Amino acid sequence: MYTIHVQFEQQDLQSTIIHCEEDHTILEAVLLNDIHLNHNCGGVCACTTCHIYIEEGEDFIDEMSEREEDYVDRATNPRLNSRLACQCLLLPLNKQTNATVSITIPDQSDIIGHEH
Ligand code: FES
Repeated sequence: MYTIHVQFEQQDLQSTIIHCEEDHTILEAVLLNDIHLNHNCGGVCACTTCHIYIEEGEDFIDEMSEREEDYVDRATNPRLNSRLACQCLLLPLNKQTNATVSITIPDQSDIIGHEH
């Protein structure tokens, strides 16, 4: 089981902690927990609206593909720890039963999102 600490750059949103089974993406994990995160292309690595920052636990997340790297560079304020949440698959936990990942969701108020 993964524990995901979710922080927000948007001032009026409170950080929260959610739980998720392995083999889900971080996008799926936040949406299953009713946290808003835009995902305009439907999670197929064809936009940048699901952009997040991985603060902790990157070793538990599937590696970035070249395609994701291309897109993440086009996100607003990309940093070294930028990822696209729809591509962040939480890897199977072999020897341990619990792991923690910490993310920050950038301010999404300028993104014109649409729900899927
Ligand atoms: S939802 Fe479009 S790249 Fe993740």
